[in-house]
Amino acid sequence: MSGPKKRVYIKTFGCQMNVADSEQMAQVLAEGFVPTDRPEEADLYLINTCAIRRKAEEKVRSLLGSLQVLKQSRPQLLLGVGGCVAQQEGERLLAAAPHLDLVFGTQGISRLPELVRRAGRGRRLVDIELAPGFPPQPRRHWAPGAIKTLVTIMQGCDNFCSFCVVPYVRGREHSRPPGEIIGEVADFLAAGGKEVTLLGQNVNSYGRGLSEPLTFTELLRRIDALPGLARLRFATSHPRDLSGELMAAFGELPSLCENLHLPVQSGSDRILQAMNRGYTREEYLRKVAKLRRVCPGLSLSTDIIVGFPGETEEDFQETLDLVRQAGFDQAFSFKYSPRPQTRAALLPERVSGEVQAERLGRLQNLLNELTFEAHQRLVGRVREVLVEGTSKRSQEELCGRLRTNQVVNFSGPRELVGQLVQVRLTEAHPHSLRGTQVEDSSITWPLAADPQAPQRRLSC
Ligand code: 5AD
Ligand code: SF4
Repeated sequence: MSGPKKRVYIKTFGCQMNVADSEQMAQVLAEGFVPTDRPEEADLYLINTCAIRRKAEEKVRSLLGSLQVLKQSRPQLLLGVGGCVAQQEGERLLAAAPHLDLVFGTQGISRLPELVRRAGRGRRLVDIELAPGFPPQPRRHWAPGAIKTLVTIMQGCDNFCSFCVVPYVRGREHSRPPGEIIGEVADFLAAGGKEVTLLGQNVNSYGRGLSEPLTFTELLRRIDALPGLARLRFATSHPRDLSGELMAAFGELPSLCENLHLPVQSGSDRILQAMNRGYTREEYLRKVAKLRRVCPGLSLSTDIIVGFPGETEEDFQETLDLVRQAGFDQAFSFKYSPRPQTRAALLPERVSGEVQAERLGRLQNLLNELTFEAHQRLVGRVREVLVEGTSKRSQEELCGRLRTNQVVNFSGPRELVGQLVQVRLTEAHPHSLRGTQVEDSSITWPLAADPQAPQRRLSC
């Protein structure tokens, strides 16, 4: 592309994987487009969609409908829909929205510049090809001062949980070659970054099908060894594939944060089986107990679905009971939503919307109590905070996260943004904590060169 750069606005729905994909869209388009956060001035408007629940899909359709007005006032505007809904609907989206120029699927991002060029010549296009293998990724660049980043290590999923649309819209599971992942993390650290989150639908099965066989734990070890890395996280883990080797890593790798997202989905064996999850509640709880032995300060988060077809009050009570036993610090809970192509969508015993809402309410009350109790247990302790930014209200008000992922607000100079500081936690709130900085606590950088570093792992 030649001439002055045009402007691209990207609206992202859904999970961290979509956030990473949107960033990649901006990067592949960088030769011809600069990102804007003002949709009304965009030359290219992309919607990155999520199909995980019907509500997410409805939001996309409603936004798409409302963009007809913008398109009328700016006829040169190119409008594209990408991601999971695009993959699922393909041509149907173009047919339903005459103002839409481009539909591209979950593996079409690398072809985006060419698709946009062709759409700019007046062609309405659909590209939802799912190719085998992990597509080559362009080299990434980070804005100056970037603190944390998401690194995609796998795509797709082979698990076919009976409720889940992901294997249909993101295709089969493929691991990214380790050299590419490590190179990307090293580039980020060289740019001054501190925290990396590795992303995949089921990171525990990383390495299957690679020409150089490598387990996920070995990948973590190699990344942990890179100089300058302060914090390493990953999402998402399937409980069935959480190996003893990976659990042990929580007690071994200095950068690996004491924080694990381990979606349980239900506490009833009957429902877990109908969901095709491949573990029982006892197996799940045994793994949690083992993790807590290896890493006593671990904060555990989860996903739970209520009102799966056939779920009785008794099944639901088992979920509440498991939630209490596992002692989750945080949880995301959802009403079951039937998705196209999935096996559960064919099951007869649907739970009514009212019962789903009532169960979700009870579950969320319990989860909120547990989160607040976890925050209260931290009051009085000194913990390391990675300062991520200033508050919208005041430049002297800083906001960061603990290694265990809770949000902490405290007063301090904005120069601390991007730094690791020690903070005494003084107040617990439902969604965050407050604290005060402990004087002289700034940590010398890089962490790996600091002989005190392992002792700083306050929670494990
Ligand atoms: N209905 C409700 N929740 C779902 N999830 C996935 N599919 C569905 C569905 N059909 C939830 C699961 C998953 C999270 C990302 O979304 O809890 O872990
Ligand atoms: Fe969906 Fe199950 Fe794969 Fe997670 S593991 S993406 S819930 S099919």
